[in-house]
Amino acid sequence: MKRIVILSLILTLSFSPLAEAQKAKKKDKAKPAVEFALPSQETREQKYQRMKWWTDARLGMFIHWGLYAMPARHEWIKNIERLTTEEYQKYFDHFDPDLYNPREWAAMAKKAGMKYVVFTAKHHEGFCMWDSRYTDYKCTNTPAGRDLMREFVDAFRAEGLRIGFYYSLLDWHHPEYTIDVRHPQRISKGTKEQYDALNQGKNMDIYRQYMKDQVTELLTQYGKIDIIWFDFSFPGENGKGHEDWDSEGLVKLARSLQPDIIIDDRLDLNDVWGGWDFITPEQKKVAECPTWHGEKAAWETCQTFSGSWGYHRDENTWKSIPQLLELLIETVSKEGNLILNVGPTARGEFDYRAKERLEGMGKWMHQNSRSIYHCTAAPAEFQVPERTLLTYNPETNRLYIHLIDYPLSRLAVSFADKIAYAQFLHDGSEIKFDKEFLHTPVLKPDCEIPVIEVFLKEK
Ligand code: GLC
Repeated sequence: MKRIVILSLILTLSFSPLAEAQKAKKKDKAKPAVEFALPSQETREQKYQRMKWWTDARLGMFIHWGLYAMPARHEWIKNIERLTTEEYQKYFDHFDPDLYNPREWAAMAKKAGMKYVVFTAKHHEGFCMWDSRYTDYKCTNTPAGRDLMREFVDAFRAEGLRIGFYYSLLDWHHPEYTIDVRHPQRISKGTKEQYDALNQGKNMDIYRQYMKDQVTELLTQYGKIDIIWFDFSFPGENGKGHEDWDSEGLVKLARSLQPDIIIDDRLDLNDVWGGWDFITPEQKKVAECPTWHGEKAAWETCQTFSGSWGYHRDENTWKSIPQLLELLIETVSKEGNLILNVGPTARGEFDYRAKERLEGMGKWMHQNSRSIYHCTAAPAEFQVPERTLLTYNPETNRLYIHLIDYPLSRLAVSFADKIAYAQFLHDGSEIKFDKEFLHTPVLKPDCEIPVIEVFLKEK
């Protein structure tokens, strides 16, 4: 009798849907791992609708602000210089951003054309920019003495920007967080055994619960939160991946507390439909729109003005305004979003170089944002004219030609027969055309990257 039960159990198991799904997965690697889908069993269309405000927005602001603004030489400083928590304590003891006025920040972001903002609630150093119940390592206990994030949220929301939180999965301060290859107290070329010995007595269960408690605070105490940006995973020996974070649990929690929330892809759940919403190429231009299982995926490139994410006093690698504009246009021309980072100073202000760039972008966006918002790649039938970048608004059926290198008196186009009317976007002045060329004035207009707005004939 016992044998029969065992035998039938084996048979049922090997024919169970899960076993079938696993077999199918092995056979067909390109098939999405739907069998492990997370709560929202949403279709592509539903996901597209949920994210539509975000893809329409195209431009956001990242803000990296924490204790690392004080050493002002990289937000990874605790790691780079292998500082102990005791050595790092001086920053906590002296953190006093007395010039902090987030309404000024929000006004600058809005003027630059940014539609959403993502703020570092906690970066890898573990310091919390809000009044968390679950730690003393937070801004309210420093000379700052108040919930900086609450003021930030109120100010940006008042300007109409959507709100996102960045939450570091790494934590170089929490006592139960195990030391790994990315930790300030890492062992050079350490073996697994050495790390195990070092981590004896630490309990990651406690840290996992801590993250959930904090994410719950962030997603319940600050109103509607539009984005959560978890950062980041580094699976492998002495690294950390989705099991270490309980990424599935975090995603489920976030989606249950804020059903429309948009989540980045750094939880090491890349093969899980529902485990992420957008791909995050960092500090690089992509060759083409990234894909997932053969289909185009939503993506956002995160970029700094100068290199490091936290305020860096001595960095001399600042991107110019034209470079930043080109980066934005190119991103949209490949169906992506751009999130540009500001690292405020320890006094709580935007650095003058960041201000200059935001102003420059704002000046251009004031006249030209129609070629950015709601725009995407041009349909393939439009061959890109020389030294230009194209974007397209499918809702208005208008094509935007960005003159990266100004063409002098004419620009050759292969699609003149499709043009109903053309004008410069910055001043609405007519651009005449014939069968081969758009006729531009010899003198480049007073506009960093002039744009020709093309009203296409109805299809
Ligand atoms: C990184 C870095 C980091 C920064 C982030 C932004 O992975 O660890 O300092 O916050 O990316 O994308």
